[in-house]
Amino acid sequence: MADGDQLKYLSGFGNEFTSEDPRCPGALPQGQNNPQKCPYELYAEQLSGTAFTAPRHENKRSWLYRIRPSVIHLPFERVTSTRLVQKWSENPPNPNQMRWLPFKLPGDDEKVDFVDGLYTVCGAGHPSTRSGVAVHVFLCNTSMEDKCFYNSDGDFLIVPQEGTLNITTEFGKMKVAPNEICVIQLGMRFSVAVSGPTRGYILEVFDGHFQLPNLGPIGANGLANPRDFLTPVAWYEDRDVDSFKVVSKFQGHLFQAEQGHSPFDVVAWHGNYVPYKYNLANFMVINAVEFDHCDPSIFTVLTCPSARPGTAIADFVIFPPRWAVQEHTFRPPYYHRNCMSEFMGLIHGRYEAKEEGFLPGGASLHSTMTPHGPDTLCFEGASNAELQPARLADGTQAFMFESSLSLTVTTWGEETCHRLDHSYYQCWQTLKKHFNPARKNQ
Ligand code: FE2
Repeated sequence: MADGDQLKYLSGFGNEFTSEDPRCPGALPQGQNNPQKCPYELYAEQLSGTAFTAPRHENKRSWLYRIRPSVIHLPFERVTSTRLVQKWSENPPNPNQMRWLPFKLPGDDEKVDFVDGLYTVCGAGHPSTRSGVAVHVFLCNTSMEDKCFYNSDGDFLIVPQEGTLNITTEFGKMKVAPNEICVIQLGMRFSVAVSGPTRGYILEVFDGHFQLPNLGPIGANGLANPRDFLTPVAWYEDRDVDSFKVVSKFQGHLFQAEQGHSPFDVVAWHGNYVPYKYNLANFMVINAVEFDHCDPSIFTVLTCPSARPGTAIADFVIFPPRWAVQEHTFRPPYYHRNCMSEFMGLIHGRYEAKEEGFLPGGASLHSTMTPHGPDTLCFEGASNAELQPARLADGTQAFMFESSLSLTVTTWGEETCHRLDHSYYQCWQTLKKHFNPARKNQ
């Protein structure tokens, strides 16, 4: 592995980490954060992810030791974008079940990078009041050249679906392939290199940061284990350029400033506010082993809690390969109506409750109290199947962004992307009435 590509264990949320680029041993000041002169005459800069006075177990900040401080840039100018939006009033609300065919990648005749290929699908709330979520997709085919991005509004949980993301951050490098995810938090500068058509999903939260869900009676181990989260090691480049573009998402709008050097000039860092990645194959699946279908919360990888105990601003949930062994049970997801909003995507494979029409790179949205559940094919098959232990979802990874907020779909999501499947509702129209008061079979 090349310098800067190594990753180390993020052995716990809230723990303190240290990292030095091996080319500059001793770059981290010892015994204090901000000496009169830092080793190698670096500048010290703190990146705060929580209020200074946040409780200790929630407090997040990192110290960056860099060649130049971030403040050296020309003024920001507004970039007009109709793709990334935070205005939920542009479209009237729509409570219908929605499903999207795979979002279209840019054609060979276009060059679109990660930032220019960001499209907002739905969301709620606003970053200026630090409350809400947004769901975006990215559809790109070109690397960001002398350009970085940072989000002043919230954290990005990034789910690549097609193509690998080679991400350079201020903290070092991360390679994130499909079936892996990464989280890049408020304010962290990063640049994405790709090697062809690249597609994926982003869950953005304005309120706070993602954390591991509590495990309750499950115990100390299970679901996503802390040892499987990886964070970059320090990597820097000392590179002057005519124009390096720094793009900021600020209050839902994009702004761009220019500077004459690479911002990836952090030689060493320490702290607990760091980007990280996670391989979904490491998820330890917990499930029913006797009867009934558990609520999908058993598959929560990360959660961004609200102030209400047990109610998330947003959860990131997966439906990984696993055994189904329940007896006397309709094993697929139950029919339901939810006080939460459910946005689903498919990384690869075929999702059990909708084998047709819900495709990798596509999505669905079941809004607050909008009924949904298995299609006719799934219901008839699972109601009559002989129940043996069976593998589920091998070669498949579906996921859900579940939010306690009621999401509004953007004009792009509902119209301009031209991927909304207006026939989706039909998958339930052929569900038959089986009721017969004279026959009680079970
Ligand atoms: Fe659901």
